[in-house]
Amino acid sequence: MRTTVGIIGGGPSGLLLSILLDRLGIDNQVLEHRSRAHVQRRVRAGQLDHASVAFLRQAGLAGRLDRLGLPQRGMNLRWRDQTRRIDLEALSGGHSCTVYGQSALTCDLTNALAASGRSPVYGAEDIRLSDPESEPHIITYRKDGAEHRLECRFVAGCDGAHGPARRLVNGAGGGSSKRLPFSWVGVLSETPPVSPELTYAYHPRGFALWSMRSDTVSRTYLQCGAEDQAEDWSDDRFWSEMQRRLGPDVDFSPGKVTERLMVRMQGYVADRMQLGNVVLAGDAGHTVPPSAAKGLNLAIADIRELSESFRKLLFEGRQDALADYAQKALKRAWAGQAFSWQMTDLLHAPPSGDPFESNLKLTRLDTLLASPEQLSLFCRDYTGAEAA
Ligand code: APR
Ligand code: PHB
Repeated sequence: MRTTVGIIGGGPSGLLLSILLDRLGIDNQVLEHRSRAHVQRRVRAGQLDHASVAFLRQAGLAGRLDRLGLPQRGMNLRWRDQTRRIDLEALSGGHSCTVYGQSALTCDLTNALAASGRSPVYGAEDIRLSDPESEPHIITYRKDGAEHRLECRFVAGCDGAHGPARRLVNGAGGGSSKRLPFSWVGVLSETPPVSPELTYAYHPRGFALWSMRSDTVSRTYLQCGAEDQAEDWSDDRFWSEMQRRLGPDVDFSPGKVTERLMVRMQGYVADRMQLGNVVLAGDAGHTVPPSAAKGLNLAIADIRELSESFRKLLFEGRQDALADYAQKALKRAWAGQAFSWQMTDLLHAPPSGDPFESNLKLTRLDTLLASPEQLSLFCRDYTGAEAA
């Protein structure tokens, strides 16, 4: 098989890139090692910022998102036993976010790709990439017991944090990473949301977040020990801890838990996102702690720019287009990382329970909430206003 761009990974990044390249008339093929059902079921953070929604609309990919997405024009912030609604729209200069599960977006992208007559190769096992400088680039993989070979001019590594592309471009152990000394336990349940807008809480016992997927399904998270396992968090423990952190005035009756997962908190940014004819995009190039839900939005921003860079390279002969993309993507990744860490630091309790540190955090929150200038900057970053 032969193509122009071989895309490794059929998550949101790989699927969106395939759709956009197809529209530009650039031949491409997605290779995904999991099954289609597995990819579509994968649960991740589910909030799109203003820039992502605007781009998906402009690309004609927001039909279901516009019908089923839950607009977030504000958010609730809870600290010192009080709740304050932050008017994201007013404070960010007219921007907002939309809650929409990543699995729903993955389904929409898969359908849009199928409508254009393309489909990823699912179950492509043991993908091996040739040297980044090689031309053409040879990708080999196994499917249903047979060996396959894909010859391509370029490779887009959209294979997430654990795929082979990150290592090929950065070497084993390349890039900068940091792990935080706590995790999240996340629960999906048949519980109506406590508010139509997200609630973020700082409590000396730890962070809490109440998000949702519909008006009957909630997605809730609690800060927990770095090494905690899902079995450590029975439903009773989870909900009583949620109640303590949100306070007695937040009323809810927990419904059936349909899924429980652990989220390890870490950040990673590659040293480089391009080497020879191989480029990285999305989680392959960077991962952020989920506190500000920036991961998917950074991925969408990468793909928007990467598809445009392929156009410049292939139709305008701009030889520097991929290097240019990689440089901008790294800058954006660090900016997303900086905001994600700021928000994480602001809202998470020190695992030591140290009252001195906890009071410092509460005082920082007081300052942020009392300053319209600081709040406005925060809301602009949170809603992706700068990227719009
Ligand atoms: N071969 C083929 N495919 C692979 C391989 C491999 N060796 N390794 C991983 N993959 C696939 C995964 O199965 C997955 O479907 O690459 C895809 C990567 O998808 P994501 O991890 O979702 O990454 P990306 O598409 O960049 O999307 C970014 O993911 O982590 C979240 O918060 C992040 O929401 C953001 C989104
Ligand atoms: C989610 O709905 O999964 C979600 C929303 C906002 C966040 C993180 C996760 O900051």
